[in-house]
Amino acid sequence: MIISAPTDYRQAAKRRLPPFLFHYADGGSYAERTLRRNVEDLADIGLRQRVLKDMSSLSLETELFGEKLSMPVALAPVGLTGMYAKRGEVQAARAATKKGIPFTLSTVSVCPIAEVAGAVERPIWFQLYVLKDRGFMKHVLERAKEAGVKTLVFTVDMPVPGARYRDAHSGMSGKHGPMRRVLQAAMHPLWAWDVGLNGRPHDLGNVSDYRGQPTELEDYIAWLGDNFDPAISWKDLEWIREFWDGPMIIKGILDPEDARDAVRFGADGIVVSNHGGRQLDGVPSTARALPAIADAVKGDLKILADSGVRNGLDVVRMIAMGADTALIGRAFIYALATSGESGVSHLLELFEKEMRVAMTLTGARSIADLTQDSLVSEAW
Ligand code: FNR
Ligand code: LAC
Repeated sequence: MIISAPTDYRQAAKRRLPPFLFHYADGGSYAERTLRRNVEDLADIGLRQRVLKDMSSLSLETELFGEKLSMPVALAPVGLTGMYAKRGEVQAARAATKKGIPFTLSTVSVCPIAEVAGAVERPIWFQLYVLKDRGFMKHVLERAKEAGVKTLVFTVDMPVPGARYRDAHSGMSGKHGPMRRVLQAAMHPLWAWDVGLNGRPHDLGNVSDYRGQPTELEDYIAWLGDNFDPAISWKDLEWIREFWDGPMIIKGILDPEDARDAVRFGADGIVVSNHGGRQLDGVPSTARALPAIADAVKGDLKILADSGVRNGLDVVRMIAMGADTALIGRAFIYALATSGESGVSHLLELFEKEMRVAMTLTGARSIADLTQDSLVSEAW
């Protein structure tokens, strides 16, 4: 299959992966309306063409919490990344580091923090959830500190997991899940050999490290349901704020009031996100939510945004609407599943090329030049 556009990786990943893994990444919650709107609303944001402005030199560089980024993109935390390619978190972190952008390790990664942090020069970011077992949270935060992590991404939009009906259909969850997953793996020999056999161990690396015994993926979805804590409130975050010296980013903000609360709390950044349409279906797309949030808190903290970013033009749209940096989730997972580190590197090259063209044709010489003025409200 010829890969020329960033979105080509989705189809390639679909061929290579057992369906339970493809649909776990590709799917959203309930009727998947928010998932679709994330992509469509963002693509509908019109760009304002400007010409004859000598755009021979332009820079995509930006700075975030004292870190230099070669472009305003970071890899989002994605649970089970190590099931998409052999030691997938390490491969993705290497691609991000080589490109000069941050990689965020999920709490529920396959590779534990030390394995990933030890494989790359640049400090990785770490994402934490509020789990019922606060001892675990303290343990992973300590491990993260030891591994040189500075930036903590705290995800707050998952006090309960949303219903993912595709996972039940695909065999990712449900009664005959284990048997169906083995059969699907057998039908996808490239994946079965490379990842299924040679990518082991396949457990939740950070959880296993805490419990001192492997925490298998046997019923991952049920594990999420049992361990997430619906009692969480801003108060619960205070001890983490005290414990953590580095920048703290609150991920999962979709409303200007919550964004203001994040400022009051003392967060260094927020991620405007609906978790890629995987939590409450029916909430606004990020493209719709972002401008009002930027109006409310721009300048008070850093604004990151994700959900629906599929190519470089989408990054430009997010930045022009007020984000400082965009995160990408599924886009890099499809590339990783297709061809590991080199797939993610290629994807990031494509993103950069697309951003350069978009900036040239909107007359933006730097990331700071991308503003509401770079957009047109009625493109079509
Ligand atoms: C996620 N996301 C996520 N977020 C998080 O904070 N911790 C996690 O462990 C995960 N796990 C996860 C798994 C998979 C398979 C996906 C697709 C997503 C959400 C992720 O960080 C990000 O918010 C979305 O992926 C952004 O949407 P797009 O770019 O995928 O449309
Ligand atoms: C997900 C969790 C792990 O979206 O954040 O599947």
